[in-house]
Amino acid sequence: AEIFRKDYKPFAWRMPNTFLDFQLGLDETLVTATLEVERNPVAEVSRTIRLNGDGLELVSLHCDGADCEGHTMDGDDLVISLSGDSHTLTIVTRLAPSANSQLMGLYASNGMLCTQCEAEGFRRITFFPDRPDVLSTYTVRMSGPKALFPILLSNGNRTDSGEEGENHWAEWHDPWPKPSYLFALVAGDLVARVDSFTTMSGRKVDLAVWVRDEDLPRTEHAMESLKRAMTWDEETFGREYDLDCFNIVAVSDFNMGAMENKGLNVFNTKYVLADPETATDGDYDGIEGVIGHEYFHNWSGNRITCRDWFQLSLKEGFTVLRDQLFSQDMGSAPVKRIEDVRVLRSVQFPEDSGPLAHPIRPDSFREISNFYTATVYNKGAEVIRMMRTMAGPERFRKGTDLYFERHDGEAATCEDFVSAIEDGAGLDLKQFRLWYSQAGTPRIKLDSERSGDKLELTFRQEVPPTPGQDTKQPMVIPLKTALFDRGGGEPAKESLVVLDSAETKVTIEDAPENAVLSLNRGFSAPVRIERDIAREDLAFLAMHDDDPFARYEAMQDLVVGHLVEAAGGTQGDNSRTEAEDAIVQALGAILTDDRLDDLMRGELMLLPSVTYLMEQLLIADPALIHAEREALKAKLGASLGDSFKALHERAAAVPFAMDAAAKGARKVKSLALAYCAAADPVRASQMADEQYDRADNMTDRQGALMALCGIDSPERTARLLDFYERYKGNPLVIDKWFAIQASSLHPQVVEHVKALADHPDFTLKNPNRVRSLYMAFAGNPHGFHAASGEGYRMIADLILALDPLNAQTAARFVPSLGRWRRIEPKRAGMMQAELQRIADAPKLSRDTYEQVTRSLG
Ligand code: ARG
Ligand code: ZN
Repeated sequence: AEIFRKDYKPFAWRMPNTFLDFQLGLDETLVTATLEVERNPVAEVSRTIRLNGDGLELVSLHCDGADCEGHTMDGDDLVISLSGDSHTLTIVTRLAPSANSQLMGLYASNGMLCTQCEAEGFRRITFFPDRPDVLSTYTVRMSGPKALFPILLSNGNRTDSGEEGENHWAEWHDPWPKPSYLFALVAGDLVARVDSFTTMSGRKVDLAVWVRDEDLPRTEHAMESLKRAMTWDEETFGREYDLDCFNIVAVSDFNMGAMENKGLNVFNTKYVLADPETATDGDYDGIEGVIGHEYFHNWSGNRITCRDWFQLSLKEGFTVLRDQLFSQDMGSAPVKRIEDVRVLRSVQFPEDSGPLAHPIRPDSFREISNFYTATVYNKGAEVIRMMRTMAGPERFRKGTDLYFERHDGEAATCEDFVSAIEDGAGLDLKQFRLWYSQAGTPRIKLDSERSGDKLELTFRQEVPPTPGQDTKQPMVIPLKTALFDRGGGEPAKESLVVLDSAETKVTIEDAPENAVLSLNRGFSAPVRIERDIAREDLAFLAMHDDDPFARYEAMQDLVVGHLVEAAGGTQGDNSRTEAEDAIVQALGAILTDDRLDDLMRGELMLLPSVTYLMEQLLIADPALIHAEREALKAKLGASLGDSFKALHERAAAVPFAMDAAAKGARKVKSLALAYCAAADPVRASQMADEQYDRADNMTDRQGALMALCGIDSPERTARLLDFYERYKGNPLVIDKWFAIQASSLHPQVVEHVKALADHPDFTLKNPNRVRSLYMAFAGNPHGFHAASGEGYRMIADLILALDPLNAQTAARFVPSLGRWRRIEPKRAGMMQAELQRIADAPKLSRDTYEQVTRSLG
């Protein structure tokens, strides 16, 4: 059934204290929950209490120590009659962790036990009001065989422990009331890297990162990232940690990236383990970002949680913004901003323009797991970033201070957040709130007209219709702008233009003759901009804009303009040559511009992705776009061959280090290699082979292998074999081995993926492995959109096979097929048919059912 935001009602009961007792076993775990319940004075009176369950086996149920007055099952929920104002319920359930393949609730991974409760996993452990506005104080006791589970962890602080023969037990108490989705328990044979952190008020916190014994040497970066995050949150947001210990556990079977359980964060191993030999620079950045993200949730998520799941962006949008700002401060701010915008445009924009479009605060859903989206997370972060841009960092901080002060200990709403920023930062956000309710990416058309010394700008905004929202109102859109003088004058000071109506006119006095407008600098608003701008002006901005993001953007626009025209078939031979020449010239300047650091140079060297290019067309032919993009790559590789080789050589001479200069060198090295490979595969094969041999780190080795993988050559086979043999004991690196092959441009990629699915190391049971093969493939336009339709069939087959095992992960593959309306008719028909085939399957999970039916429209 569909659930609506407007139907929210407070729960009729309060749950002041919750006691959980676990008798742990991999195959069988017994849970005794003792729940104190009392009437909620601010809710409607009810004579029953509804406790959510999901596939639970109820062993026994008592009310105040005796049989209950009455209880019924309503589907999976347990409904108990209660006549008084306060009662104690004792509920025993039996779980089978090793049979739990959904990885929600309590499950076994690699011989250990762990939990994932967000959003609705706690109801797979015991019967409980499993909703975020019911806060309770938890005391947890767990016991089990010491040999199997030497380490016993839960939320909060450990208060007691002891032994009973072969068994031992531990008791944990979390003093901070929390919703059930933040509950966690871990039991297993783990070792820790320990450290400590002293908070700004002088509290000493014991830190631990728990992993399997063999992974201990790969935990240093995670621990250092955690300490940096703790310091940063004190300095930047005034937020201090609030328990005596903070534990992180790495788990190899995990549906998502990580989880912010109070005092006991559980992580996908991918976001914990790293050393230079096995992790790329991108992996290092990912770890720092996710460690920060989960830590920051302690305030934005845990101390202040969500009233209901429609408010998910309250914690996720804000926490993503916080982790983005953290990473900006730890590394190169402009490069981080560019990376974040790239993710937004290649993942969130397609969401906003497709059948699954939803506002950052959705109005309804069937399965909340389907709403952990780039819209809620990344667009959510952009919306809060706009408030920060309009207020400025100092006033924004006043707003967040007020938010934390006003709502500490509460289950709050997005509206609460906006009001606090409004009051604290002194902004009027009345109309701005539309960003929470309207889906779709606003389009802005800019016309400029000159009269004398004046430049008259007319901005017209339009928010496209999305499912269920046919008409939209004009939004508040803050655009950072600056005017450049191509004649060489000083750049004008940056100013903020805030659009708030369908049409906004801005006049610039004394605009120089050769004025070039730089717009949406720093990507100050998550919008699309359409304007007629001369190629020379874009090339000028690509070379001279003093805002790094704007410079990147100009370069992208230059390339997008050309490729969209070329793939649309509207480009004459002359204009093709002119466009290509302009790009060659601009990129040539970038390759040798010594004002640029290499990390930034790498960004400017990247061609827009096929997904992003497809977004620019109403109906796209993926094969054509891909072919044009490859042709441009080859053209650039050929025209600038000497520069790429020189760059590759220069970068190859930089010794390994983790500083920005060395990271930048590695980034441009593999990019230069990719351009060379597009132009001259034979020669590039040798370069790549050499890079592979000389590699003393995973970034170089992976870059070389990726280049080799797209080329049909004997080196390819030899190197793939070598890579596999070298790393066969390390699952995270074997994931890379699968992903590199699935995302390759090799002509036989479809056959390769089919064969890899039968590889002994492939399994549907491990989400990282599934994603490494099939997400990589679904994101590879050359494979996924194969003219035969085989790519679509493979993804549909995967969804059907995975759905009964792990519905959450299966449903995540649906959006790739859901783009069918924006693809040329032949492929669109095949995609739609595959969606229909899934929809017709006899037994679908709620997750997959919702995504497939929405995608079919
Ligand atoms: N709150 C977690 C994070 O943002 C994500 C957990 C999502 N879990 C899920 N089952 N959908 O890091
Ligand atoms: Zn989060």
